[in-house]
Amino acid sequence: MFLRVQSEAKKGTSDPVEVKPVANDGAFVSQPQSQPQSRPQEAGPSYRPTDAKAGQYTELKMALHQRLLDMINLSVIDRMEPEEFRREIGEMVRELLLEENRPLNLSERTQLVDDILDELLGLGPLEPLLKDNTITDILVNGYANVFVERAGLLEHTPVTFKDDRHLLRIIDKIVAAVGRRVDESSPMVDARLADGSRVNAIIPPLAVDGPLLSIRKFAKIPINMDTLVEFGSLPATFAELLRGIVRCRRNVLISGGTGTGKTTMLNAMSAFIDERERIVTIEDAAELQLQQVHVARLETRPPNIEGKGEISQRELVRNALRMRPDRIIVGEVRGGEAFDMLQAMNTGHEGSMTTIHANACRDALTRLEQMIGMAGFDLPARSMRGQIASALHVIIQIERMSDGKRRLISLNEITGMEGEVVTMHEIFKFRRRATDADGTIHGEFVATGIRPQFMNEFETRGIEVSPDMFEPNRSME
Ligand SMILES: Nc1ncnc2c1ncn2[C@@H]1O[C@H](COP(=O)(O)OP(=O)(O)OP(=O)(O)O)[C@@H](O)[C@H]1O
Ligand SMILES: [Mg+2]
Repeated sequence: MFLRVQSEAKKGTSDPVEVKPVANDGAFVSQPQSQPQSRPQEAGPSYRPTDAKAGQYTELKMALHQRLLDMINLSVIDRMEPEEFRREIGEMVRELLLEENRPLNLSERTQLVDDILDELLGLGPLEPLLKDNTITDILVNGYANVFVERAGLLEHTPVTFKDDRHLLRIIDKIVAAVGRRVDESSPMVDARLADGSRVNAIIPPLAVDGPLLSIRKFAKIPINMDTLVEFGSLPATFAELLRGIVRCRRNVLISGGTGTGKTTMLNAMSAFIDERERIVTIEDAAELQLQQVHVARLETRPPNIEGKGEISQRELVRNALRMRPDRIIVGEVRGGEAFDMLQAMNTGHEGSMTTIHANACRDALTRLEQMIGMAGFDLPARSMRGQIASALHVIIQIERMSDGKRRLISLNEITGMEGEVVTMHEIFKFRRRATDADGTIHGEFVATGIRPQFMNEFETRGIEVSPDMFEPNRSME
């Protein structure tokens, strides 16, 4: 098994490396030198040798990459040991650099070989961003604009793709790996990277200015409740209460806008579930990282290219009921499964949890009602609300604020119905005091003074919490 194409190997050692347009799939066509690469001017962390040299470096890398494509036998890449592949590519790069009379020192050459390997095997310019653990989201708006989210705030990066075709090629690679495709007939796709990161891609004509790629990176070390407290997302007292809520099997709904940390909170809360319980999780893209041993994970299936074979969350919730779960956790309710989830909560699967996309607890209830409607039953509003009121016990609202911090801003208990209305009381909230010019928010977490009804349940089960926890207006850290 040779990596080097035998007849090309000789040729490869005699031709000088030059930048020339090559008509392959267009992904790595070298740009003529007369067309300078457009590159955002923003300062920021650089992921390649910087600015003035960046163009040259990219040119060199692209040229070498192109030459390597001619020199190597692509069909054996998958069958080679990564170390062997790396060694051979390293050797070839060194030869090519010698011919080109571009002496690079060892660390420069290692970097170049790494970059080329990334281009050949991985996801090109995305690789350094994927490796950077401080980044939580990667957002690509066409080939020339790549943004990332760090510590809750968006930043423009100097990373670019060669052109939109290069970007499309990378998108293709991502979606092909999960057996999907992206083209004019299916211009939007959800996929997942091998490391578990969640991906959405949408291409023209739906994306007006070029392909759009959004990646929610998978947290290698998931954020747990202690970390959330450390980050100031909630005070330790709230965490203590949440622990009790999970322990005494209250049904919980976590509400928040997009990217506010709903899944993270669900994951952190689920850690309070007893090891001895059987947990079934249902998600559209498996993101939860439960630490318990007894977890049965289910994931929906999108329709295939002919539009067939879809398995929805709703079907999975129903199936889960036949799997003897102690608790059911639905990653996020979006549609008719809300009805089945509430039914499950009402019929002996107490302690179940889910999240919902809404900007306030009251809105979450309205959305839930709409979702029950999607299940296709013509239920009168009163009975839908009755279902909600008897199934749900606690709603938590989280928000990502202008300072980039995510906070638990409201914890509510549902207490029943009054006439046609679901009644709930706010137990804890975040009280915002002031905002600095730089967006920093000042405020405090306080109790409203209402002692929740679930405290009776706490007592029955012997769950103790600080007695002054519900004292009104006492600021908590
Ligand atoms: N309290 C927090 N402090 C700092 N970072 C957080 C916090 N909560 C979540 N994150 C990070 O923010 C990102 C979004 O979190 P998460 O996936 O939980 O949000 P979400 O509301 O479920 O998003 P979506 O609406 O896309 O499903 C993740 O990368 C996560 O690691
Ligand atoms: Mg989520």
